[in-house]
Amino acid sequence: MDKIRSSNKIDLILSHYKNPQRSDLSKILLAIQAEFGSLDQDIIKKVSSFINISSTEIYGYASFYSMFYLTKPGKYKIRVCKGTACHVKGSKNIIDAIEKYIDIKAGESSKDGLFYLETVSCLGVCALAPVMMIDDKTYSRVNSMMIKTIIDDIRETENINGR
Ligand code: FES
Repeated sequence: MDKIRSSNKIDLILSHYKNPQRSDLSKILLAIQAEFGSLDQDIIKKVSSFINISSTEIYGYASFYSMFYLTKPGKYKIRVCKGTACHVKGSKNIIDAIEKYIDIKAGESSKDGLFYLETVSCLGVCALAPVMMIDDKTYSRVNSMMIKTIIDDIRETENINGR
């Protein structure tokens, strides 16, 4: 999509807020992200001048909450829980294994655009700790030895579908 069309779409979203307040920031960012998949610097600048909050503050806000993506997330979103129950059962080892195998850090997407990794505070199924999700699928009692197989299965599926 070219820049003008993108800009028009953002203007259309912003036009729903006649008298924008600070409290609208989250809704505005989510609406724009739903359209574009992530919030880049141009979007943040535009929202900044619209709502009169500095770009730095908006960037800090969007970085803090895991629901916002500052770079386009990979096709598969891997969420590893690092809440207390999962932490005690070794979620750090899972995160380390994923980071090493896919060569990304939490908050990043893989170079091939396939995976995005994030950590979360609780996935709500603590009895199954340690837990991770890939999109809507939950993986319970995960250990680092399972990571290669899980990732390879997805890569395999992608190769088959891509043929
Ligand atoms: S602490 Fe991990 S699911 Fe609740």
